[in-house]
Amino acid sequence: MPISQNTETDFSLILNKVLNRRQLLIGCGAVGGMRLALAPGAQAINEIPSEKVLDFEAVPTNLLDTVTVPRGHSWHIVASWGDPLWSHGERFDEQTRGSAQSQKLAFGDNNDGMELFVSDSRTILAINNEYLNLPIMYGNRVSKMPETSADVQKGQAAIGITIMEVSLLNGNWSVTKDSPLNRRITAQTPMKLTGPAAQTNLTITSLDQNGDFPLGTLNNCGSGRTPWNTYLSCEENFNLFFASSDREYNLSTEFRRYGIRTTDRGYGWYRHDERFDIAKHPNEINRFGYIVEVDPLDPSSIPRKHSALGRFKHENAAITVNKDNRIVVYMGDDERGEFLYRFVSDAVFHPDADNSKILESGSLYVAKFENNERGKWLELTPESTGMSSQADICVHTRKAGSLVGATTMDRPEWIAIHPHDNTIYCCLTNNKNRGRKTNSGGDETPVNGANPRPNNIYGHIIKWRPDEDDHTNSNFTWDIFALAGNPYVHSGPNAGSPNIDPTNVFNSPDGLAFDSRGRLWIQTDGNYSNDGDFVEMGNNQMLVADTNTGEIKRFLVGPKECEVTGITWSIDRKTMFVGIQHPGERGHSHFPGGKQSVPRSSIIAVTRDDGKMIG
Ligand code: FEO
Ligand code: CA
Ligand code: CA
Ligand code: CA
Repeated sequence: MPISQNTETDFSLILNKVLNRRQLLIGCGAVGGMRLALAPGAQAINEIPSEKVLDFEAVPTNLLDTVTVPRGHSWHIVASWGDPLWSHGERFDEQTRGSAQSQKLAFGDNNDGMELFVSDSRTILAINNEYLNLPIMYGNRVSKMPETSADVQKGQAAIGITIMEVSLLNGNWSVTKDSPLNRRITAQTPMKLTGPAAQTNLTITSLDQNGDFPLGTLNNCGSGRTPWNTYLSCEENFNLFFASSDREYNLSTEFRRYGIRTTDRGYGWYRHDERFDIAKHPNEINRFGYIVEVDPLDPSSIPRKHSALGRFKHENAAITVNKDNRIVVYMGDDERGEFLYRFVSDAVFHPDADNSKILESGSLYVAKFENNERGKWLELTPESTGMSSQADICVHTRKAGSLVGATTMDRPEWIAIHPHDNTIYCCLTNNKNRGRKTNSGGDETPVNGANPRPNNIYGHIIKWRPDEDDHTNSNFTWDIFALAGNPYVHSGPNAGSPNIDPTNVFNSPDGLAFDSRGRLWIQTDGNYSNDGDFVEMGNNQMLVADTNTGEIKRFLVGPKECEVTGITWSIDRKTMFVGIQHPGERGHSHFPGGKQSVPRSSIIAVTRDDGKMIG
């Protein structure tokens, strides 16, 4: 089919196709009333085999300050912010909320992406600690903000990555204190920078004349897991931790593209640690914004930041072994109007070989979605972009994407690859600027087929499949899996696609992962006001989808003012570990302790009461 020049008509056709897709009307059968007329010939709900796939009773939305799971399931806390990983660490202190010293020995704040590893009989969780809940962490201070150098050190110790062994005793998982594999990686941990950006005039600082030995990792958001059993941690909003002592400091176009400002966002790090003062060390920030690879089974290993995979606000890293054994990584840049990327390794993976350098060199691509449900990967090279070097591209990756005409997206969050076919799914969480405002590089963000709603307040999930099932192929076919929406208050596009109905409403899909059965788990980071456009949506939640039928069912509701993010399974698949991030971020939760206790981000374990597998 030729591509029409009339893009508006084309994307309208796509939107209508998504909204009218009859086979997706299943799931509506359980509710009466709204948008329920089954199309002629559509199957009734009791004939749908997907009931066996989503084998639980859906959980209604709620505003409770606890976790709700379906009947026949239970949950318990595995670890919360401030829990010590070693027996010489202090128990979390509700009054002081910990010190720099206690935090260095404890689980970090704001757990996000996580992956599970097994070594001998040990179960190890590698978990990101994304950012700080400042008013909670510094609730002991009058200002509720960091006030001293020690306060800043406490914060620097509370982010990064936690690696901890967990064990199951009498049905409950808990941290194995003093495990030789327990480790904290923080904003001060020595790292290695690899790839084109290393050892260049963009990454050399007065504190690191080689330009390849950065300290620390920041804003570790989603995760990934390599086939050679290492952990990938993705640096997202690294700009938030920097500021300038010189308020007149002239921000470059490159700095502005990443939202770097002279003013402090509350962390105050630049006052106590000059690395975070852009006026004093302007290259320091070029050493953040990467995918970080960590060997969770070797506590003495040096984490490596792989610049070949680009520098942007990395969400997660969805990795696969292509049929030619090259490694392909799909990655999103979570900001309004930013892009989707793909990395293809130079080297091939072999299970018995040393694969440790695979992510150090390869080709980087950015996605262009056409309005005819086809798309292309555009390689980012000095020739294609006109930029001076691959180092420049690997540091100023957003600029490279703009120069080749990549498609601006509605905030790409997690990406997940179906375990049984080669379809890739990605949450586009929301974008109030769609159709209204350029991205920070000045790229226009018109409504298009892949981002079909202006002022996209609910978000959607897109999917694509590479031609010939070859992840190195330049071409792919795409489709929209779900348009989130609210049929309680809207009809038309903002009611959502037909697989959205009053029983499964949600907004702002973010976390995304497949289980071993090929079910797609969807976690939300959205508006929890339960009001206006978001009425009946309740607290943030986790749903699960049958990607064969499109059916989506709510499995879990989180406590007040949390985000549900991070998911992995025990090796026997009888436990699902789920992250509860920032409960009470606006001051209205006491999860998990209840009563008047300090709210704390936590990892929970969810099991089935019949002891069967949960994913
Ligand atoms: Fe840390 Fe885009 O979420
Ligand atoms: Ca996220
Ligand atoms: Ca989010
Ligand atoms: Ca969050």
